[in-house]
Amino acid sequence: MKTPLDAFWMPFTPNRQFKTQPRLVADAHGIVYVTPEGREVLDGISGLWCVGAGHRHPRIAEAMKRQIDRLDFASSFQVGHAGAFELAERIGSLAPPGLDRVFLVNSGSEAVDTALKIALAHARATGQGQKNLFIGRERAFHGVGFGGIAVGGMTNNRRAFGGAMLRADHLASTWDPSTQAFVRGQPLDGGVAMANELERLVTLHDASNIAGVVIEPFAGSTGVLVPPVGYLQRLREICDQHGLLLIFDEVITGFGRLGEMFAAQALGVVPDMIVFAKTVTNGAAPMGGVIVRRELHDAVMQGPQHLSELMHGYTCSGHPLACAAALAQMDVLQEEQLPARVRALAPQFESIVHALADAPGVVSIRNLGLAAGIELAPDPSGPGQRGARAQVAAFDRGVLTRAPGDTLILAPPFISSTDDIQRMADRLRLAIEDTAQPET
Ligand SMILES: Cc1ncc(COP(=O)(O)O)c(C=O)c1O
Repeated sequence: MKTPLDAFWMPFTPNRQFKTQPRLVADAHGIVYVTPEGREVLDGISGLWCVGAGHRHPRIAEAMKRQIDRLDFASSFQVGHAGAFELAERIGSLAPPGLDRVFLVNSGSEAVDTALKIALAHARATGQGQKNLFIGRERAFHGVGFGGIAVGGMTNNRRAFGGAMLRADHLASTWDPSTQAFVRGQPLDGGVAMANELERLVTLHDASNIAGVVIEPFAGSTGVLVPPVGYLQRLREICDQHGLLLIFDEVITGFGRLGEMFAAQALGVVPDMIVFAKTVTNGAAPMGGVIVRRELHDAVMQGPQHLSELMHGYTCSGHPLACAAALAQMDVLQEEQLPARVRALAPQFESIVHALADAPGVVSIRNLGLAAGIELAPDPSGPGQRGARAQVAAFDRGVLTRAPGDTLILAPPFISSTDDIQRMADRLRLAIEDTAQPET
């Protein structure tokens, strides 16, 4: 690429290092990216957990082309267009019964902050305005808004920004390396005991002060940390007992990754709000949102008729192009039965990723649905170095992965075949072997 790389301050990227050794893509189709030199790189992380239906799905591309020629932009502030209403109705019909009011935004981070605001607004609307503390979890990622980093549990994402700007406390992570290192799917033991920690936090802070509990069904961005069986069920019970809202951040799991539309359905626990983004448009346009239990929504619908009930929203909330992409994606997910395809593929995916256990330095492998984390022993120089080297090596070997710390993520598109997944794993193995020796 001839264009200088200096001006674009890249997100979540070591800019100085990247720009000495850039990894660029120019085209994509199905499960592959193509570099400017024409080399194919298998998309082992669905773009960034987005492209479940595969790149450049014709149905989505056509819907967006039709939309741009008809209505390019309309705000949703006191004016509306059919696509946003149709999409909200459609998403509500796919969510667990009772959750059918949908607020649209443009990213997962915005969606998390929106859910937190809805919880606070609901507390006020029901005469419980003192409920302004949230419970999150260590090692959780809830995006990069100030609300999201407060309830999130990733130290590096908070350190430079004044820590928590919203009152939050945290459950411990569900990750237990002593018993879970090579567990397949959900660990069987310890779920209820881990969730009972919420009781301790409720006793400490008192339920009357807690606005909600925010949880990723499994922690994705910190390396696929899968909660044991019974954990989410027990959290739900404790929330019910104490009148706490339970918010699932399904930015990664929403729209098929666990073999159902939502993790709530795959794991059999229904929260009060579901936060989504990414796969809702197959990554073709930025969009996120919050699916809200109807009673919560209705409780907030008060105040003078001429005033907005929730003083919140974004210029591009319900953007026509994103709505067109999302509506087409709903058709694709349903007509091509992609969640069922994930269910069918998941056992083979599990066998293929766990076969990497004998690659050099692999210390743990976790998986659920079409998501896996393959953790490598850190280099003696410190955590994260081996993961970073392996991520670069994987790109050179022809598979796109991501490495939070020393864990390599594999989260292929739902349309992948078993052979595709095997090829991804083979290339990942080569990258792991390439980086077996610490850099001198
Ligand atoms: C669980 C979770 N929540 C929120 C986000 C933030 O989404 P975005 O990057 O679209 O703001 C992510 C992104 O990966 C995520 O995994």
